[in-house]
Amino acid sequence: MKSVLFTLVLFIMTAMCANSQNQKVLVVYYSWGGNTRVVAEKIKAQLGADLVEIVPETAYPTDYSECVAQARKETKEGFKPAIKTKVENMNDYDVILIGTPNWCSTIAPPVATFLSENNFEGKKVALFVTHGGGGLSRCESDMRKLSENAKFLKSGVFSGSSVASSDDDIAKWLKEIDLKK
Ligand SMILES: Cc1cc2nc3c(=O)[nH]c(=O)nc-3n(C[C@H](O)[C@H](O)[C@H](O)COP(=O)(O)O)c2cc1C
Repeated sequence: MKSVLFTLVLFIMTAMCANSQNQKVLVVYYSWGGNTRVVAEKIKAQLGADLVEIVPETAYPTDYSECVAQARKETKEGFKPAIKTKVENMNDYDVILIGTPNWCSTIAPPVATFLSENNFEGKKVALFVTHGGGGLSRCESDMRKLSENAKFLKSGVFSGSSVASSDDDIAKWLKEIDLKK
């Protein structure tokens, strides 16, 4: 009886942690001010996914205006800065969730680098964006141009100013893309 109960508890715990189709999920994100990191960590917690931060070789200026000026120039030119982040075991994952702040209406350049350095063939890929009012803007369409081989799922869009209370919105999005029951 004891062992039946133990197996049952183990089964329930596993079911709670696993996503709905038992797919292995990697959450990758870049965050300058912390908002996208908060969302990435909440997704990790809800799915039991692995989490990797995209770190540029050269950090962006900590001063907001300087950062905006640099971002404006880089996004306009399609510049892809060098990044430290390499995911050696990409083949282990079925789904890649990629987080970016909305920078000048598109994905942040370090995320553009990550997308162009990796092959997502046969994988499901979804973007999650935090923004300051502009929503998704061109983030999804620009991502699609950089990772043609992937099967794209609906993007998650979260307001940067309310990431702390985004748990329910995140759960709703994860259900929509079939990663959560
Ligand atoms: C360089 C820069 C450019 C930005 N451009 C936009 C924009 O075009 N549209 C928008 O809605 N928010 C914009 N924002 C606001 C951020 O998208 C928002 O604060 C986001 O949640 C920041 O994420 P993070 O804290 O992970 O960096 C910009 C912020 C920065 C720093």
